[in-house]
Amino acid sequence: TLAESPAVRRLADWDATRLESLVGDYGSPLYALDLERVRENYRRLAAAFPDAEIMYAVKANALGDVLEALHEEGAGLECASAGEVKRALAAAEASDRSDGFGVDVHYTAVNPPARDLDWVVDAWEDHPELTITVGAEDTIDRLEERGYDGRLCLRVNPGIDAGHHEKVKTGAAAKFGVPIERAVDVLADAAERGFDVVGVHAHLGSGVSSDQLDDHRAFVARMGDLAREVNDALEGDLEFVDVGGGFGVPYREDEEPLDLEAVAEATREALGEVDARLTIEPGRYFVADAGVLLTEVNTVKEARDTLAVGVDAGMTTLLRPAMYDAYHPIRNLTADIEVETDDPSDNGRETVPQTVAGPICESGDVFCSDRELPASRRADVLAIGNAGAYGYEMANQYNSRPRPASVVIDGDGDDAVRLARRRETFDDVTRVETNAADPTIENP
Ligand code: LLP
Repeated sequence: TLAESPAVRRLADWDATRLESLVGDYGSPLYALDLERVRENYRRLAAAFPDAEIMYAVKANALGDVLEALHEEGAGLECASAGEVKRALAAAEASDRSDGFGVDVHYTAVNPPARDLDWVVDAWEDHPELTITVGAEDTIDRLEERGYDGRLCLRVNPGIDAGHHEKVKTGAAAKFGVPIERAVDVLADAAERGFDVVGVHAHLGSGVSSDQLDDHRAFVARMGDLAREVNDALEGDLEFVDVGGGFGVPYREDEEPLDLEAVAEATREALGEVDARLTIEPGRYFVADAGVLLTEVNTVKEARDTLAVGVDAGMTTLLRPAMYDAYHPIRNLTADIEVETDDPSDNGRETVPQTVAGPICESGDVFCSDRELPASRRADVLAIGNAGAYGYEMANQYNSRPRPASVVIDGDGDDAVRLARRRETFDDVTRVETNAADPTIENP
């Protein structure tokens, strides 16, 4: 049976008054993340996969508090870059996990820049428990050149994919993994060269939904076959078979959450008997519904066929709608508080179709088009839901726009909110820039 927490936390379930007050305290735009919800999501998934090793895909939200909280719960940390490995090692060391499991960090190297390999191999000297997952024979050679002969996992390309958008399907994309047909030879060769071969890995894609369960099943079955073949060839050396992440979450208000028990059962069944531990590494599942983006309305105007609502967050703050046409729920907190408190300024807001857009000079900078919402007014605070995954992580400084602040909420009391990341300033935006008058900045 699964942990008690509800399988999905809708934007409507958040406390509007509390969220609006955060903007009063920390300004707008602002990311808010509920750490207890992150833990609940972990426990629910861990309950569905009782004998799997669970890693957290750091790329979904790399905030130190998140890494520490998940590591304390029992998660390993799967990293996509040396920068993530650096954060993961720091968080794993800071977390007070006491089950003796120690630091469990994987670096999944995709076309790894030399700088990343140098850094990670260096870190491995102090952390021999690090695992490096390679997706190309070149990467094995480059590790060997650097004297690495530690734990090695091979990412394969299974030739099957799935996901919420073409741009996040990975299982058949040329850039990811060694074609699965070549995997046994590559691993046998690596073992002969002295690497400590510990695992096989693949990732089908991101945002995999219940109706893609057949693809998941076919994919896991291939991984099971591969693991058995590798164990035959390497005399049972495999420690784990990692089937990646990708667990989808509902973004639309009427979308149902994944049936985790069905996914877990399908996974076990498709994998079959393997003398190696099952590893999964979701990112989004743990953090998506634990986070919201708060943003203030600054402009309201009647456009040709819609109410055009301007807010201070944009595609630089939350890129997903612009990049994947992703749907995110939007709630007008100020309007909801008026209703809750019978505020007389609520002279009955009508629900009207509106287009909520940011301050960036691109027509793609919209969070929704013609969506029915209570008529927005200037200074209203809107909450954009499911912003905990791939939100701040993909934020950038386009249009010389400083990135927003982030707070974490950990509990109910007044002291439960903490600034986790300050808002950037204009100076942060230009800090790395040199010019003729001041050429003092060095290039690392
Ligand atoms: N493992 C590997 C090797 C991955 O490449 C990814 C995601 C994950 C695990 C975690 O996938 P998740 O459980 O979070 O779906 N920016 C996109 C998602 C890109 C995911 C890339 N890889 C989005 O906002 O939808």
